[in-house]
Amino acid sequence: MKISRVGVLGAGLMGSGIAEVAAKAGYETTVREVSEELERKGLSRIEGSLARAVEKGKLDAVASDAARARLSTTTRLEELSECDIVVEAIVESLEPKREVFETLDRACKPDTIFCSNTSSLTITELSAATRRPDRFAGLHFFNPVPVMKLVEVVRTIATSEATEKTVFEFAKSLGKEPIRAQDNSGFVVNRLLVPYLLDAVRALEEGVATREDIDKGMELGCGYPMGPLRLLDFVGLDTTYAIAEIMFNEYREKRFAPPPLLKRMVVAGRFGKKSGRGFYEYGEGK
Ligand code: CAA
Ligand code: NAD
Repeated sequence: MKISRVGVLGAGLMGSGIAEVAAKAGYETTVREVSEELERKGLSRIEGSLARAVEKGKLDAVASDAARARLSTTTRLEELSECDIVVEAIVESLEPKREVFETLDRACKPDTIFCSNTSSLTITELSAATRRPDRFAGLHFFNPVPVMKLVEVVRTIATSEATEKTVFEFAKSLGKEPIRAQDNSGFVVNRLLVPYLLDAVRALEEGVATREDIDKGMELGCGYPMGPLRLLDFVGLDTTYAIAEIMFNEYREKRFAPPPLLKRMVVAGRFGKKSGRGFYEYGEGK
């Protein structure tokens, strides 16, 4: 199937990145948010990222303007009806995702392929909300989307071979390196990464070392680009807490259980970089 129009649900951290890479790859891209204010916020994040790429000489100004011209935003789900593929990147919670897919299923043309960027829900439980589980797959990007090369492509027992092939080729057309994963909560990467991140919070909770030394340990000792606590701030503590709850409920294994400190930080509104404060503080001079 030929893809030319792409829809993205959500213009948060991930949705804005997905929309950016789709527009840069030449697709007409429409992003849906829940309010005009969030639409504007998402668009300015994309414009900022495009400007940064131009400044760094990664993208020429003509290509940046062309990508921007291919992007539109809306609050109306119906505006995605003619898209060939829709990638969902809204909050990590089952009910809102099922609800949005149920509505989208009625709004979109029959051959539109639906994908979810979920970190921890199974694709099967999302696709079951639609009448098109054969045209439904997982397409899991990594943060920051314009930089990270990997995409996990997930096929359920109901996904057709043709859909998987189209989604795999679509990922490659975005300049990504796709891998195939079974439809298990967390797929490949989060199954390994999430217990590590949660363990870092437990280490901090138990006073194993300071936040700086825990991060420095993993950066300098293992060559990771970011220590685990900084990475948690980057991913979002609210999102990580939701992921841990979902994975713990799925596997009932302690390694996925959210540590109390993580919960307390979320309840206190410390979501990480996106809210200005998490394990570290963000803002001028910080
Ligand atoms: N958007 C676009 N580009 C960005 C960016 C962003 N938000 N942040 C950084 N970049 C680009 C920069 O422009 C720069 O590009 P060049 O090298 O071409 O100049 C490059 O990334 C490196 O950036 P910086 O030099 O500013 O900073 P850095 O060297 O510290 O790298 C980083 C930043 C790429 C984020 C790096 O720290 C990193 O790789 N961190 C780990 C990220 C990671 O593990 N992501 C996975 C999270 S888990 C997940 O996504 C799955 C899930 O379901 C939760
Ligand atoms: P985020 O909180 O930054 O953004 C979510 C956005 O979705 C918000 O702007 C919200 O207003 C919007 N939204 C909520 N309901 C909506 C609806 N019905 N229609 C359109 N928009 C709606 O979250 P995020 O970090 O971008 O995560 C989004 C998804 O991507 C989650 O499923 C998450 O697990 C997954 N993910 C996150 C990361 C990460 O590092 N943060 C990495 C990979 C995958």
